[in-house]
Amino acid sequence: MCYLIEFVKNTDNKQTIKPWEQLLELYPGLNEPIRESWNDPLSIRKIYMITPTKTRAEQIADLTRLAQTLYLVPNLFWIIIEDEIKPTQRIHRLLQSFHLPFVHLNIATPDYLKPTQNQSTWRRPRGMFQKNIALQWIRSNTNRNDDALVYFADDDNTYHWKLFQEIRKVQSVGVWPVGLVGELLYERPICLNGKVHSWFHFIYRKRKFPTDMAGFAIHLNLIHKYSNYIFNVSATSIGQQESQILDTMTTQDQLECLANNASKIYVWHTKTQIMFITAADKLQKAGITYDLISEL
Ligand code: UGA
Ligand code: MN
Repeated sequence: MCYLIEFVKNTDNKQTIKPWEQLLELYPGLNEPIRESWNDPLSIRKIYMITPTKTRAEQIADLTRLAQTLYLVPNLFWIIIEDEIKPTQRIHRLLQSFHLPFVHLNIATPDYLKPTQNQSTWRRPRGMFQKNIALQWIRSNTNRNDDALVYFADDDNTYHWKLFQEIRKVQSVGVWPVGLVGELLYERPICLNGKVHSWFHFIYRKRKFPTDMAGFAIHLNLIHKYSNYIFNVSATSIGQQESQILDTMTTQDQLECLANNASKIYVWHTKTQIMFITAADKLQKAGITYDLISEL
């Protein structure tokens, strides 16, 4: 099987505007919370954030919200992977408009595996081909000894800026609660003295580590150490992907409980309501076109 992959490189070398520094000038108090936890803000550890993104009516709105959150986060490199056979100009323009350091990649989920409206979506891979391309990019473009963290961040979740401070505390693999997930207000690790004792969750699905992808971050050197690891896209593995990567790269004893011993929610597994653009079809049938406006 062969899927088209096209890389558009746009690393931070050329980016002269540093949003975080601009914000600090505008709001000098903004870095206070970071000073509280880090003696030297300049030593803030780098985060590689992996975001798969699917083409849909709400995509630009979701990505705009996410990009604006990232304005609050220094030293973050955004790896954004479109579920498309080619990187689109729309997404590229959006990314460029934010002046955040990023790389824009793409890979198309094969049609026969794409979730359809009537199917139970958790049996279909969502963003997994894309995350695998990002893992490959990281392994080829970072040094295995760099001190940096890797976080998988879907494009429709809601992230508090404090989450990124927690991610920077990770030594090996860190875990924390995720809000609005698993048919509950939250799922969370239950921690005693910084170590995971058990998990609070409702849906089981034989998950050894019952957490959402938004509930952990991994040190970069583990991504290099397990250099062959990729997410398994087979139907039986879909609900297991968090457990499988964690089971490969760590053990429950090694997990570090963050977010105040897993007592705070800094990320929510929100879902944007699907907008039914029904009038567009009616206009088309009536032979009426409406003006195209550039989304950015
Ligand atoms: C949840 C988890 O938060 C995901 O990290 C995990 O990959 C997914 O379940 C799974 O187990 O399959 P969920 O909110 O249910 O995610 O799924 P979506 O938000 O629809 O998709 C996750 C990410 O993949 C999004 O960033 C989305 O834009 C992207 N995606 C989704 C694609 O790139 N292609 C698709 O066909 C569907
Ligand atoms: Mn989602």
